[in-house]
Amino acid sequence: NKGKHRHFMEKEIYEQPEAIAYVLANYISLIENPADPIPSFDFASIPSLAISACGTAYLAGLIGKYWFEHYARLPVEIDVASEFRYREIPLSPQSAALFISQSGETADTLASLRYCKKLGLKIGAIVNAAESSIAREADAVFPILAGPEIGVASTKAFTCQLAVLAALAISAARTRGTVTENEVQALVRSLAEMPRIMGQVLNSIQPQIELLARELSKYRDALYLGRGTSFPLAMEGALKLKEISYIHAEGYAAGELKHGPIALIDKDMPVIVIAPFDRFFNKTVSNMEEVAARGGRVILVTDEKGATASKLDTMHTIVLPAVDEIIAPMIFSLPIQLLAYHTAVFMGTDVDQPRNLAKSVTVE
Ligand code: M6R
Repeated sequence: NKGKHRHFMEKEIYEQPEAIAYVLANYISLIENPADPIPSFDFASIPSLAISACGTAYLAGLIGKYWFEHYARLPVEIDVASEFRYREIPLSPQSAALFISQSGETADTLASLRYCKKLGLKIGAIVNAAESSIAREADAVFPILAGPEIGVASTKAFTCQLAVLAALAISAARTRGTVTENEVQALVRSLAEMPRIMGQVLNSIQPQIELLARELSKYRDALYLGRGTSFPLAMEGALKLKEISYIHAEGYAAGELKHGPIALIDKDMPVIVIAPFDRFFNKTVSNMEEVAARGGRVILVTDEKGATASKLDTMHTIVLPAVDEIIAPMIFSLPIQLLAYHTAVFMGTDVDQPRNLAKSVTVE
């Protein structure tokens, strides 16, 4: 039932504040209670973590990598499952592996899990479908708790995967002693603010996103740029746009711009720059200036501090509330998802059931 929404995708985008609140209600206790260790996962003793997944779930894992490395000082090996399963990665049996999947049935992800199991690694699964093959074969299951996701384009499962990964990374940081108690408390407070801020963003940005989407639907290509955790988010933005609107889109690390993609920049190439006011902001702004100097049209997605700091004349600037670094990827996902959604609606595509795609990919 789509309720008052035109598509399941739209409904699922708007369900995120509630879904995230539910995830946090279940995971914050995991951070706060060190006496209650995560089943089968001794983050304190593992030398490294391997992560594997496909599509949007892989991009959630890539953001998780930044968190595990930054907060928990835990090295992460990550790859798309279709490569991971065949790469013959020399993994230590003392390590642990995490597999991320909404459906829990993705063939390549399941094969990667079995590969790691054979090597003797501890297996964790971040899955939405509790009764799935990936959940059954894991030593520890971390439910995504997003509720059923019907739209082929993953939205709420993505942000809920991120919330689970953030909680696991903070919990790992705590057991590994790489953050102070005060830092843990501050991170938990930031996570707890997410549902309210998400609600506030969803209530306010739709009109401007619709106008922007009308504009974007006139183009054939789009480039998404970001640094740090905004880099995987740039790839997620491009994936979302291409899969439902069929506009060709690519996501790049902003620093890679001058290593190739800058050759594409002209007035027909809108560039969506994801730049919260974080430690990368100034560097991303200088990439943005390079785009503008070549006639590229910049759509800047930033926060209040970033909007004040940037003097660039953009095609459009989306301004979000300034939030703590750990929750920025979830908050910045919202305009990215809505932009893809409304662009697809303008293009008249089958938003919930895009051509050639299946919700669950059970063959490799
Ligand atoms: O069920 P899974 O999370 O394992 O699915 C992985 C991908 O097939 C999925 O995320 C796909 O990329 C989405 N359609 C993206 O919106």
